[in-house]
Amino acid sequence: MKGLVLSGGYGTRLRPLTHTGPKQLIPIANKPNILYCIEDIRDAGIKDIGIILGNVMPEKVQEFLGDGSKFGVKLTYIIQGEPKGIAHAVNCAKDFMGSDSFVVYLGDNLLKNGIKAIPKKMNQEKADCVISLCPVKEPQRYGIAELSPDGKQVLRTVEKPREPKSNLAVIGVYAFNSSFFKVYPKLKPSWRNEMEITDAISLLIDSGFKVVPHHVEGWWKDTGKPEDILEANHLILDGIESSNEGKVEEGATVVGRVRIGKGTVISGRSVVRGPAIIGEACKIGPNAYIGPYTAVGDRCEIGSAEVDDSIVMDDSTINVERKLVRCMIGKGSRILSANGMLPKGERLVVGENTTMYL
Ligand code: DAU
Repeated sequence: MKGLVLSGGYGTRLRPLTHTGPKQLIPIANKPNILYCIEDIRDAGIKDIGIILGNVMPEKVQEFLGDGSKFGVKLTYIIQGEPKGIAHAVNCAKDFMGSDSFVVYLGDNLLKNGIKAIPKKMNQEKADCVISLCPVKEPQRYGIAELSPDGKQVLRTVEKPREPKSNLAVIGVYAFNSSFFKVYPKLKPSWRNEMEITDAISLLIDSGFKVVPHHVEGWWKDTGKPEDILEANHLILDGIESSNEGKVEEGATVVGRVRIGKGTVISGRSVVRGPAIIGEACKIGPNAYIGPYTAVGDRCEIGSAEVDDSIVMDDSTINVERKLVRCMIGKGSRILSANGMLPKGERLVVGENTTMYL
């Protein structure tokens, strides 16, 4: 079996963060979403993985993942370019897959319990396709599955239906065999002009192939919007263990489960309250407060500021006597105090499509 991770798309709902890189590289608890996907596939025993690249700085994905050897996998890059739909992206991997069956993982999906159960089910049930299902509150936002009354058969799957027939989302982990490539030429673009994966699954069913549902246990998250990323950050930080490779100076306090990276110093009367993660070579203090569910990347400096329930990406500086809550702060940002400056007022250099609540 092979793997396929999708790293294309525009990530419009995550601008400005996606002006400078693909959304799949946005860190969640200091690790890009795409790496969670690759590790899950690897942990399911699959080492040969294709990565679909889009046209939002795809070189950044290659730079980060390399040939995969650092992560115990072998990666092959496949260019999709324009995002013409998930089924289109999968079809771009036709030559790479050959006659093998494969698992597809959307690079902006996260699962608590990994994906081991999916290739297992594909083999046990001798299925042509396994889809993963999870109940959701807003079924209009997802691909939705309609099951037979006994729940054993998938009748069809529909993309973002206006009037959903169930609350079971078809989440972003699927298994297929080469029957996918047999039906793909019959697929037509949807109303939003995409080759929908849900239409491809319905086509498999209509063509007599065996499509089996798998009900996911534990949480699942689609990280397409800022609030989803903050929530995913929560879910991951809820499971972290404490470790300290840095230095907590006398007078500073670290409470709860906190992971502190190499070369990081927490100084003065700073307080870090877990669950939280602080990367490598950071300077925290002398009067910083880092609250629960915060992830601070590498080489950050946080001075006299309170940061709570937030993601602060690499190389950022925060030194302002304010409380920042539920913020996502992009790489290399500087948030500083305007105190004492004249004329008085907020001084902002704000990138395109930025959102601020002041
Ligand atoms: O998260 C689960 C949902 O993902 C499913 O319930 C839907 O059936 C499925 O269509 C998808 O919906 P989204 O609207 O969230 O899809 P999005 O456009 O965000 O793309 C999902 C991932 O696939 C994302 O990592 C980008 C990548 N992608 C997407 C398209 C359209 C590509 O690599 N190429 C593409 O052409």
